[in-house]
Amino acid sequence: MRSVLTVVFVWSMFIPALSAAPASGEAVYKQRCAGCHDSGSGRIPPRDELKKLRVAQILRTLDFGVMNNIATKLRQDEREAVAAYLGIPGDTAKPAATAYCTERTAKLAGAGKAQWNGWSPASTNTRYQANEAAGLSFGDIPRLKLKWAYGFDGDIIAFSQPTVLNGNVFVGSASGLVQALDAASGCIRWLFQATGPVRTAPLNASLGDKHAVMFGDSIGWFYAVEAETGRLLWKKRPEPHEATRLTGAAMAYQGILYIPVASWEESRTTNPDYPCCTFRGSVVALRIKDGSQVWKTYMIAEKATQTGKNEWGPSGAGVWAAPTLDTKRGVLYVATGDNYSAPATPMSDAIVALELTTGRVVWSMQTTPGDVWNTLCSTKGNCPGPDFDYGSSVILEKLDNGRDVLLAGQKSGVVYALDPDRKGEILWQVRVGQGGTNGGVQWGMASDGNQVYAATSDVTRLQTPQDPLDPRPQFVDPKIGGGLTALRIANGEKIWFSPPIVCGPNAKPGCSPAQSQAVTAIPGVVFSGSLDGHLRAYSAEEGKVIWDFDTVREYQTVNGVRATGGSLNGPGAVAVDGMLIVNSGYARLGSIPGNVLLAFSVDGK
Ligand code: HEC
Repeated sequence: MRSVLTVVFVWSMFIPALSAAPASGEAVYKQRCAGCHDSGSGRIPPRDELKKLRVAQILRTLDFGVMNNIATKLRQDEREAVAAYLGIPGDTAKPAATAYCTERTAKLAGAGKAQWNGWSPASTNTRYQANEAAGLSFGDIPRLKLKWAYGFDGDIIAFSQPTVLNGNVFVGSASGLVQALDAASGCIRWLFQATGPVRTAPLNASLGDKHAVMFGDSIGWFYAVEAETGRLLWKKRPEPHEATRLTGAAMAYQGILYIPVASWEESRTTNPDYPCCTFRGSVVALRIKDGSQVWKTYMIAEKATQTGKNEWGPSGAGVWAAPTLDTKRGVLYVATGDNYSAPATPMSDAIVALELTTGRVVWSMQTTPGDVWNTLCSTKGNCPGPDFDYGSSVILEKLDNGRDVLLAGQKSGVVYALDPDRKGEILWQVRVGQGGTNGGVQWGMASDGNQVYAATSDVTRLQTPQDPLDPRPQFVDPKIGGGLTALRIANGEKIWFSPPIVCGPNAKPGCSPAQSQAVTAIPGVVFSGSLDGHLRAYSAEEGKVIWDFDTVREYQTVNGVRATGGSLNGPGAVAVDGMLIVNSGYARLGSIPGNVLLAFSVDGK
């Protein structure tokens, strides 16, 4: 089975306050599951039903499925122990033979074909694709129709942004299955099973005569896989902390890989016995060829020490999004999250410039000082907050006068322009949302050189009457949140605001107009997905909706899996080679579940 031993060993090394004894599955079950699953309530599958599930399936339910809200209180080794205690060893059935392509190798040689590689087509993270590479122009957009749909078996969330290279689509999934598909038909070339859910956009790099496709998972593993065949080249945990979670895509430059490191630890505090907190966000540079480390820089200089009963600090400042490359200045920019526990530190909620070769901090600009927050605070109300992480990558743009500018959107709802030549001095700042724990600006903006496009989340959660047997304690407000703003990059002037489209009376539970998903741009067009499940194209000139597709329905998938669409959230759509490809489904925090990858083209051809 999984590398349980490594995880337990590392955990016990770093958190001396906890017992080093391996977790007992039976004990975890009695303490954390039996209250519901042995209660005899008709709505809850009884223990005998859970025993018919595969271990890997139970673990996915805990890691990313309907039990996620309960499982955030458990350490990874506890989840693995209870899954092993309950389930049948192994995983669910493999896809049908008909789902595979006849050609099982992904051909990547013969460059020149259009690409979308990693978080953004360019390492400046603009999320902008020129017409030629997009293979789509303004006039094509109203004619976009579904070309194929691919289902992620058993998943309720679809959140790995696809990478498209030479007619191949590389995409991760919540089950940890990473797939290489033929972009034209959606047939499978190969599958790779990661240890945890893969959310990061896969990143491709050349290794001489071969290629590596690289991605991280939600329990902290990072992988380099041969892009042609799906064979594992190396696998590594760039950060040993037990709660490590990799969400942002990596960046590659001259044989070195730069990995952003975030964590789950903020929500571990719903367990009052959890020693909060010890995780520190970081950027780790590894050699692509073998995964050996070049440097590692923590976003908090000092290690956490014990500050009270079950209290440790400083902690936090996770890096959730892909680093941005500035080869001219020889630096890498990252944006950081909040502190989880006191004391507050100077590089939380900040833009940080790191020297490419050494990882040394060249400068940092903190936009929200003193932001100490964790999940327990939101119920106890005893931390200052306000939980204004950066969840999205910094954009590096060039102005008409030849000067460079950095653009950063924060969960506070504010978009900043910073001067890379003056230690990140703020050039302008504009509010595009109310801000809050789920954005503000959440997963990413796009820019086309003149304008930057910031979607507003401002998702608001309704506290439903507490039902002790419902693992989903809250739902989203169907009337609040959303909107898309275009700002002039030169001065921050608001060019237009396209208002949110509120959920209709027949909308599914979990509908919200919030636009948390990362934005994508091609010349004249901006794509923004919403928690209501719609992917919309807006005219870049005036913000009018020129195309709208409601992804919330059932699909006939090319791999024969039953699939439905749901909320659009997290990483965004990619436009490449005449296609627009997006994931649909996001069953977190009360949003609409779904498990489908959708590919659109002009007239579906
Ligand atoms: C607060 C009550 C509650 C607790 C505590 C709880 N569960 Fe659940 N569990 C449910 C409910 C309700 C469902 C059905 C959810 C649905 O289908 O929407 C469920 C579903 C599941 C499923 C999915 C079954 C399937 O058919 O796919 C698994 C697996 C599961 N629980 C495992 C666990 C484990 C392991 C624990 C302890 C770590 C646990 N649950 C704790 C209420 C609970």
